[in-house]
Amino acid sequence: MTKRYNPVSSKIPKMLHGADYNPEQWGDYPGIIEEDIRMMKLANCNVMSVGIFSWAKLEPEEGVFRLEWLDQILDKLAENDIYAFLATPSGARPAWMSEKYKEVLRVGPNRVRNLHGLRHNHCYTSPVYREKVTTINQKLAERYAGHPAVIGWHVSNEYGGECHCDLCQEAFREWLKEKYGTLDHLNHSWWTTFWSHTYTSWSQVESPAPHGESMVHGLNLDWKRFVTDQTLDFFKHETKPLRAAKPDLPVTTNFMEAFEGLHYAKFADALDFVSWDSYPTWHDAVGDVAQAAWVAMNHDMFRSIKDGQPFLLMESTPSMTNWQPVSKLKRPGMHLLASMQAVAHGADSVQYFQWRKSRGSSEKFHGAVVDHAGHEHTRVFQEVSQVGDALAELDEVVGTAVEAEVAIIFDTENRWAIKDAQGPRNQGIKYEETIAAHYRAFWKQGVAVDVIDMEKDLSKYKLVVAPMLYMVRDGVGQKIEEFVRNGGAFVTTYWSGIANETDLAFLGGFPGPLRRTLGIWSEEIDALHDGQTNHITLTENELGLSGEYTAMELCDLIHLEGAEALAVYQEDFYAGSPALTVHRFGKGKAYYIASRNEQSFHEAFYEKLVEESGLKRALETKLPDGVSAQSRTDGTHDYLFLMNFGGEKQAIALPNENFTDLLDGSVVSRSIEIAPLGLKLLKRKEGNHAAG
Ligand code: GLA
Ligand code: ZN
Repeated sequence: MTKRYNPVSSKIPKMLHGADYNPEQWGDYPGIIEEDIRMMKLANCNVMSVGIFSWAKLEPEEGVFRLEWLDQILDKLAENDIYAFLATPSGARPAWMSEKYKEVLRVGPNRVRNLHGLRHNHCYTSPVYREKVTTINQKLAERYAGHPAVIGWHVSNEYGGECHCDLCQEAFREWLKEKYGTLDHLNHSWWTTFWSHTYTSWSQVESPAPHGESMVHGLNLDWKRFVTDQTLDFFKHETKPLRAAKPDLPVTTNFMEAFEGLHYAKFADALDFVSWDSYPTWHDAVGDVAQAAWVAMNHDMFRSIKDGQPFLLMESTPSMTNWQPVSKLKRPGMHLLASMQAVAHGADSVQYFQWRKSRGSSEKFHGAVVDHAGHEHTRVFQEVSQVGDALAELDEVVGTAVEAEVAIIFDTENRWAIKDAQGPRNQGIKYEETIAAHYRAFWKQGVAVDVIDMEKDLSKYKLVVAPMLYMVRDGVGQKIEEFVRNGGAFVTTYWSGIANETDLAFLGGFPGPLRRTLGIWSEEIDALHDGQTNHITLTENELGLSGEYTAMELCDLIHLEGAEALAVYQEDFYAGSPALTVHRFGKGKAYYIASRNEQSFHEAFYEKLVEESGLKRALETKLPDGVSAQSRTDGTHDYLFLMNFGGEKQAIALPNENFTDLLDGSVVSRSIEIAPLGLKLLKRKEGNHAAG
């Protein structure tokens, strides 16, 4: 059955291609806008994000609005069949506002109020700021929601940071009262009897501070949750006038790669579509293959926020950034490859920061489609046009889905907790790195993965992997138990099932609420110094895994309580004790990886699990090193993306079925070659699409 998601806008059911467009910086330079439009068409661009940081141009004095320049830009775009995401300007504000209303300025954790400057520096609580935002957003909405160019709202820009002003402190206390009801409940949840930190009145509660409280982990966690809720509340506040003007005009805000400051999953219902900004450090010491796997994981995470609905790649750089430690150019081919990688993982757009390089100030040397030279005869412009040309061939991919049978749990609150906990490895507990290591084993095999929050429904997956699930929030242990009982395969590791949602340790034996499902008890965890190792040896097992692997950094000492050992430690006082276990539970199986192992272990282990669980791969063939295979489907047709992130040309044997090359229409069969940083986009011939 054919199934597709709707495009972001029915006005343009195509892959979107475009950039942040800041013509307001060029008002005094005649002819620039005309040149821009000419070149946008040359590069096959069909969408621009306009007005992101334009507040000072839109409202140069309090209550004085100057929108004519924006009328002109939007009209010109519309006349030329270029669409626009219209931004709300709250990411940076005019100086007059900071000067007149001090409360809009953010206060740092040290309780010092910032001066005017930079961006993303406002108080989310301030009634004045909220009122000013409502006013300007209302103006924009009334005037432009129905404009033929406008296809959606780009709300603010990369929300982030926190404010510790008195207004925010009060709001935090209210949030806590709502959550805990009584101070007794709060004191118990935060374990404040320790060091006599007991609160006897709500007014004593303060946000964490470097010169104040910073080690009550429950407080730290709740503060971070509050920051997310307050930011989300601000986002909803921003969108009210937009939705009032035209309820069906979709709304997004652009997210950042693996950003830790906000629990993005909580935005899911408030967004019409997810969008994010991707700036990988290609060609660095990590290597493009590892980088590609990391970026893939981010794409999958953003796609999973709205349960698989296609997302937009709202920003990327056409060449280099100017803020990474080294601003290396994307090598020829990398731009097309990275852009198509986004599409492969579910993006329905490729967009940039920015269209035309700014002449001055902070980002004058950041890559842009149009360089200071001012024309299209540049390598970068040509590579951007190549992406435009490729996207133009992909209309039929718009709205198609990535179907994953595996989920990896990468949970923001768990991330906060595990890193703050002061536990076995304070010099690097490596939560993100561990998630990425497990993820990469699937990526390498061409197995599609959803990267989810622990709150998501698990029942649609065959395999759920939850590395270092330190925090297990209420109900999650039970949900995992049900999942396994009903036939799912579940994998978790050392340092899981340790603490509840306020970071109180589970009593009665780790891994707490996962203990029954896993059939083990973890009595102690050993931390190894950098460079120290242990080894694990596989014992006779039905997965057919064998050999030995190096273990490092964290080694859990566990007892079997129904599970059986698949591997044992080789060395130290716990030599011979279980290092990998499986528990047959209900109709499913639960695996416990007790030690942090070298990457080849993950590869071997998950290869067996993919086989055992009968998981679909994008291509039923062994992929050469560095090649990623990812597919999107409408249920009838499969669109296969084969991407070579390695430094060698690779040959790939295709199964015995015909594919057509999406970009040139040629029929492809049996074997193809992909150059380094090269790719192939294939459509699987009808009738031959993957089962399922
Ligand atoms: C972010 C911002 C943009 C710009 C780029 C530069 O993603 O949203 O305004 O600063 O970074 O890489
Ligand atoms: Zn504040």
